[in-house]
Amino acid sequence: MESSSSRHCRRLILWTTVIALLFCKARGIDIFLEWNVSSDPNIRAYMDQPLILINGKITGPLINATTNDIVHVNIFNNLDEPLLMTWNGIQQRLNSWQDGVSGTNCPILPGQNWTYVFQTKDQIGSYFYFPSINFLKAAGGYGPIRVNNRNVILVPFAKPEAEYDLLIGDWSYGGNTKLMAENPLPDLILMNGKAPFNPRGNVFQSFNVTKDYFMVATPTQIDTTAAPDLMGVGLIHYDSSNGLAAGSLPKGPDQLDRDFSINQARSIRWNMSTGAARPNPQGTFNVSNITLSQTFILHASTAEIDGILHYTVNNVSYLTPDTPLKLADHFVNGSGVYQLDSFPTNSINLVASYGTSVVTGNHKGWLEIVFKNDLDVMDAWHLDGFGFYVVGFGDGDWNSALRSTYNLVDPVVRSTVQVYPGGWTAVYAFLDNPGMWSLRSQRLENWYGGQELYIRVFDADPNPAKERPPPSNLLLCGIFKSQAPAPSPQVAW
Ligand SMILES: *[C@@H]1O[C@H](CO)[C@@H](O)[C@H](O)[C@H]1NC(C)=O
Ligand SMILES: *[C@@H]1O[C@H](CO)[C@@H](O)[C@H](O)[C@H]1NC(C)=O
Ligand SMILES: *[C@@H]1O[C@H](CO)[C@@H](O)[C@H](O)[C@H]1NC(C)=O
Ligand SMILES: *[C@@H]1O[C@H](CO)[C@@H](O)[C@H](O)[C@H]1NC(C)=O
Ligand SMILES: *[C@@H]1O[C@H](CO)[C@@H](O)[C@H](O)[C@H]1NC(C)=O
Ligand SMILES: *[C@@H]1O[C@H](CO)[C@@H](O)[C@H](O)[C@H]1NC(C)=O
Ligand SMILES: *[C@@H]1O[C@H](CO)[C@@H](O)[C@H](O)[C@H]1NC(C)=O
Ligand SMILES: *[C@@H]1O[C@H](CO)[C@@H](O)[C@H](O)[C@H]1NC(C)=O
Ligand SMILES: *[C@@H]1O[C@H](CO)[C@@H](O)[C@H](O)[C@H]1NC(C)=O
Repeated sequence: MESSSSRHCRRLILWTTVIALLFCKARGIDIFLEWNVSSDPNIRAYMDQPLILINGKITGPLINATTNDIVHVNIFNNLDEPLLMTWNGIQQRLNSWQDGVSGTNCPILPGQNWTYVFQTKDQIGSYFYFPSINFLKAAGGYGPIRVNNRNVILVPFAKPEAEYDLLIGDWSYGGNTKLMAENPLPDLILMNGKAPFNPRGNVFQSFNVTKDYFMVATPTQIDTTAAPDLMGVGLIHYDSSNGLAAGSLPKGPDQLDRDFSINQARSIRWNMSTGAARPNPQGTFNVSNITLSQTFILHASTAEIDGILHYTVNNVSYLTPDTPLKLADHFVNGSGVYQLDSFPTNSINLVASYGTSVVTGNHKGWLEIVFKNDLDVMDAWHLDGFGFYVVGFGDGDWNSALRSTYNLVDPVVRSTVQVYPGGWTAVYAFLDNPGMWSLRSQRLENWYGGQELYIRVFDADPNPAKERPPPSNLLLCGIFKSQAPAPSPQVAW
């Protein structure tokens, strides 16, 4: 889609200098999308929620962007509850205002619409979006994001003939109002929102490709003998193939084989000799020579608070304030909403409590985070705003001597990482992106149950080239509900 602003760019190029040319090139095009988020009351999902659709579909529309494009998504909330959409893996460079989590944005109220505007700056890859508050994600509302490489950036493979997006997730039927901790297995594994392939039925996901294949997704590090059908099954179907895939389904690795799984995770490494989207450090060099500025050791567990089981980080269960942290930070330096660094990042509180944990991340410092999983099922941690380098996995307790086992030479960069039951995972993040960033369990029930904190990366320089001002359509809520601050000066992309 070509926009008025890219025409504007061309005019600029005609009239001004090479600097404008570079600027416009780095900017990409504008992509305008309009989404109607609604629910289908006839289909009930987890916690009795109706299925959530975007423009009438369970896997929402593809956002097909290229590095540095600017995506405008005008979201109409036709649900009967508040909505926020988050863009998982999109780094929102200098712009946590568009991150779409409870700590950064006021929700879009039922019957209202709000336009997110964000840039896919310096990124390439496959990402996804989903509704971030309450339990909405368990009911749908998610979809794929592609960020294609610009032509000038080489990737180490030929241009694919075609591309398909595959989103695999679990599904639990309604009527259950307890947290999954008390009922750990979901009912189904879905592919693109569809139930497992069944040659006799008609609900399944199939892709047109020249020979048919089954694809199977099963849980790992959990015994599902009590639920043998808990597997996602899809069919990859080639146009020219004559008939369906036959025979038995492929057998995956032993579900409880920890070593196999950890070794596989360790074998995924970055190709250090290939091009990358970004000119800056992240993703393009080894981390063997960096100096750590901070270390967080975060134990994920559960604890009872006031007689109710909660998920905790170092024995603190995140309490979501009515006022987004980012707003409180911007207008009143957090006061009345959170107190910076009042919860531990290196020790475990002796008594479990609620807490709105916001911790300092040193701007332009290297942060080491050791995630410890004190529970007996797989966990996954996600950091907004950054790609982190996954340097180590291990069983049992972590201690500083285990740093010698880290892969600092070609660690993969990503934003979500698994943590094995009873084990640990270590990552390094370079905190060059000021903002208020969610660090959380990517398992919905853990997140919802309190396994979250925010990292505040602060740059004292008020130059908007450092961090963007709030958007002109900024929503206010919580303690700012009745105020109407003057719109902030807007800056170009
Ligand atoms: C959104 O979808 C709902 C349910 O399908 C429909 O009733 C409504 O009219 C749609 N709204 C817009 C603005 O398209
Ligand atoms: C996505 O965008 C790329 C780059 O502009 C284009 O080549 C491709 O055809 C688009 N794909 C879809 C499905 O729109
Ligand atoms: C709501 O949608 C209208 C119509 O598309 C649009 O003009 C307006 O900017 C949107 N409001 C917000 C806050 O994004
Ligand atoms: C890494 O990327 C380079 C450059 O694109 C390519 O030649 C090489 O085969 C890749 N290495 C591996 C192990 O894939
Ligand atoms: C696969 O190709 C056939 C024949 O071209 C077409 O009828 C069918 O809709 C395609 N299926 C998908 C999932 O694209
Ligand atoms: C890693 O980077 C450092 C510089 O930061 C360099 O000296 C070293 O040779 C690199 N190691 C490898 C294995 O590439
Ligand atoms: C590695 O770090 C040390 C200490 O910070 C520095 O003196 C040295 O120049 C660095 N080496 C490279 C190759 O960057
Ligand atoms: C904001 O709060 C922090 C502590 O939370 C304090 O160190 C800092 O001085 C405050 N800044 C201003 C401008 O009041
Ligand atoms: C966490 O808090 C609970 C009770 O509030 C306590 O029993 C437990 O020992 C604490 N955990 C640790 C590791 O200290």
